[in-house]
Formats: sequence, structure tokens, C-alpha cells
Amino acid sequence: MLQESPIASYFAQPALPRVEPADLARAVQVLHRRTGIVLGDHKRDMAARTLGMRTHHAGQPSVHAYLDFLDQNPQADEWDRFVSAFTINHTAFFREQHHFRILKDFVQRRAKPIAIWCCASSTGEEPYTLAMTLHDACGQSGTDVSVLATDIDAQVIIQARKGVYTLDRIKPVPLEFLRRYFLRGTGRQAGMARVKPVIRDLVTFQELNLVSPSWPLSQKFDAIFCRNTMIYFDKATQTKILERFVPLLKPGGLLFAGHSENFTYLTQSLRLQGQTVYSVT
Ligand SMILES: C[S@@+](CC[C@H](N)C(=O)[O-])C[C@H]1O[C@@H](n2cnc3c(N)ncnc32)[C@H](O)[C@@H]1O
Repeated sequence: MLQESPIASYFAQPALPRVEPADLARAVQVLHRRTGIVLGDHKRDMAARTLGMRTHHAGQPSVHAYLDFLDQNPQADEWDRFVSAFTINHTAFFREQHHFRILKDFVQRRAKPIAIWCCASSTGEEPYTLAMTLHDACGQSGTDVSVLATDIDAQVIIQARKGVYTLDRIKPVPLEFLRRYFLRGTGRQAGMARVKPVIRDLVTFQELNLVSPSWPLSQKFDAIFCRNTMIYFDKATQTKILERFVPLLKPGGLLFAGHSENFTYLTQSLRLQGQTVYSVT
């Protein structure tokens, strides 16, 4: 005879600690200070649930104690999990395709080597799209190009390094690129595809927080891709980051923004070229 209790307990949700309005307000500030992310009022319910979950999984007796723990332990591993719980990692291969046509044309006219910084690279689709575009555009000198891919979220960096995606995720990749740059999984890997080493080797992944006071970068870039990330920051944070991008661009270099991001009124150091692509004034 079937017993109900084991199944019911398998699906049971843990009782989450209560999130007081003051705790939530404090968490919103903590998140903003650490990441620059501004949580809008419409996201408060989701944020309260996330906070309750993190408190439960971190084994803290209350949300208040959890936030005290974060404050008192700036190096704790829990910070990675806290940040990761609040970041929005939505991305796709060949997202906003026109940018890759512009990039192809741009790099074909530029002196090599070419270096691109993808500064909020999420699970890797964007930097691998960049690497495929560069490899395709530069022909024989396809190894004279590199992509630095960074993100604040340690968990997406780990996933991105693997370069493994479901067949559904790689649907936007043109057929020709699928043939050249992906390996299709078989057996236990059926339904998955892996980016080939020729492309993976062009990309270096590294954690980097755009709001931290120093960035561990030792080179300048022909182009910076900062797409669909500034929308989560306030205007003051966006302006500061843009001003820090400017000296990192080589002469004639380009900054690519997301389709809903407009930097024209934030800084006089960048001029809109069209299609959310900027150059240094
Ligand atoms: C919506 S995704 C955009 C991914 C990709 N750029 C694209 O357009 O498809 C935003 C990414 O920004 C990252 N992010 C948020 N705050 C950040 C910060 N302070 N520094 C660096 N990355 C950050 C998130 O972890 C997330 O992966």
C-alpha cells in the first residue's frame, strides 16, 4: 500500500524565517553597497523569499543574524551565494545580433592583436559569441584575438568555463558556426553541445565586480561589451563605471551597450555612434 507521508515530506518546503520590513530594507542596502544593484519595489516579495532561503541555508537563526554575519565577515563564502541569489543572469548566444556584424567589420579594419572585454559575461553565451565572431573575422590571425570575460557572480563563471550548453540554448547560433565551433554530445552527453577548444582557448574567465574600487586589469581593449547590466544600477553608479571604461579603451575603441541602455546624458567622454555603440570623444 502507498504511504503518503514520505512523498509529502519529500516535497515539503522548509519553514523559512520571517523577514521583517527593516531586515528587507537593510538587505537592499547591503546588496547595493556590494554590487551596485538597485532592487525596485516591485521585486520586494521575491527579495524577501530569497533572503529567507539564504538565511535558512546558511543555518542562521534569523534574517537579522544572517545580515550581521555578512557585515562581520566580508570574506565569507556566503557572500558569493548572497550575490548569486540576487543577480539576473539572463543571456543568449548572438543576443542583439547587429552588434556582432558591427564588431566583425570593426576588427577586420584594426591592427592585431585584438582584445575585447566582456564585463558582465554571465553563463558565457556572450563571450563565446564574441570569440566566434573574432575567429571568423580574423581568418588566419584568428588566434591573435582574445576575450576577457568577467562577472561578479562566481557561480556563473564556473558554469561559463565549462562551455557546455543544451541544444536549445545554442539554437540562435548560425548553422555554419555550429559546425565549426561546437561538438555535439553523445551517450550521457546527448542533448548537450560543447564549445570547441579553438574558441574556448580565446576566452579567459575571471571574477570582477564593476563597483569594486579597483579592477585587476593590466591591458587596454579594442572594445568593451557592457550590455544589459547597467540597467540594474543607479545613474551615479553607471556614470562612475563609464568614466572608468574610457581610459581602458585603445584609441578608436568602442563600447557596446544593451538595447535599453542610454549613456548619452551620463558622460561627455563617450559619443553615440548609433545602435547603442559608443566611442571615446
Ligand atoms: C542580465 S545579465 C547580462 C549578460 C550579458 N551581458 C548579456 O547581455 O546577455 C547581467 C549580468 O551582470 C552581472 N552583474 C551584476 N552586477 C554586477 C557587478 N557589480 N559587476 C559585474 N557583474 C555584475 C550579473 O551577475 C549578470 O550575470
